[in-house]
Amino acid sequence: MALLEVNNLCISFGGLRAVDDFNMKIEKGELYGLIGPNGAGKTTVFNLLTGVYKPNEGIIRLEGQDITRKSTTEINHAGIARTFQNIRLFNQMSVLDNVKVGLAERYKYSTLEGILHVGRYRKVEKEMDKEAERLLAVFDLDKEKDLLASNLPYGKQRKLEIARAMATNPKLLLLDEPAAGMNPNETKELMETIALVRRDFDMTILLIEHDMKLVSGICEKLTVLNFGRVLCQGETKEVLAHPDVIKAYLGE
Ligand SMILES: Nc1ncnc2c1ncn2[C@@H]1O[C@H](COP(=O)(O)OP(=O)(O)OP(=O)(O)O)[C@@H](O)[C@H]1O
Ligand SMILES: [Mg+2]
Repeated sequence: MALLEVNNLCISFGGLRAVDDFNMKIEKGELYGLIGPNGAGKTTVFNLLTGVYKPNEGIIRLEGQDITRKSTTEINHAGIARTFQNIRLFNQMSVLDNVKVGLAERYKYSTLEGILHVGRYRKVEKEMDKEAERLLAVFDLDKEKDLLASNLPYGKQRKLEIARAMATNPKLLLLDEPAAGMNPNETKELMETIALVRRDFDMTILLIEHDMKLVSGICEKLTVLNFGRVLCQGETKEVLAHPDVIKAYLGE
């Protein structure tokens, strides 16, 4: 069974068909790329997958379970986590606490225990600190754990967002242009980190990017969107050989 299966997904805004008859299948462990020009509908697909928008038609299944009409929180609990095209961090919280927000669902204690700082609260807090630090180390952010998120350099803020999404222990991680605004060195480092996260956490990742070279370098499968419709889809090698893709992306 595919980890994610999307059939005939459609959404219109007024007269605009932002996503039209969108189909996609992602197997567990895949690093899958979603690419297309500005306004193609990439972020809208993420908003549909995470329940921000409800589709006019279509069905979304995670591990066979229909999640189409579920709320964003229910979908997150079901196992989909995401980052946003524009960074959304808790700027006035420390780097460590940003990750702990992601962990909180996993390590619940009652509000009363929290207020009274009873033994279980202390034990859980300690475990959360340890787990958050472990995740920060993966993203090379452990030394900055006590900084305010807003004081991190831009490239590291982007990484922190991924660390926080990972903290919810997702089955599927959606990354919306994680390298946007990064310089070439930061981008290269980030792509290496994404590959490492995939390997070490056996994570399934759907990655939105603009840059064909970047996605085709790390993703084994691609979907190319154009005007809300799938232009081409499949193994990266096959997609790169598609005449429309060559025309649009490879300048030939
Ligand atoms: N809430 C909304 N209301 C109206 N139109 C919307 C809404 N959300 C998205 N759109 C429109 O849907 C189309 C697809 O937008 P989307 O943000 O998904 O594109 P994208 O592929 O992510 O583009 P970019 O590469 O610029 O991020 C655009 O024309 C956009 O203006
Ligand atoms: Mg977008």
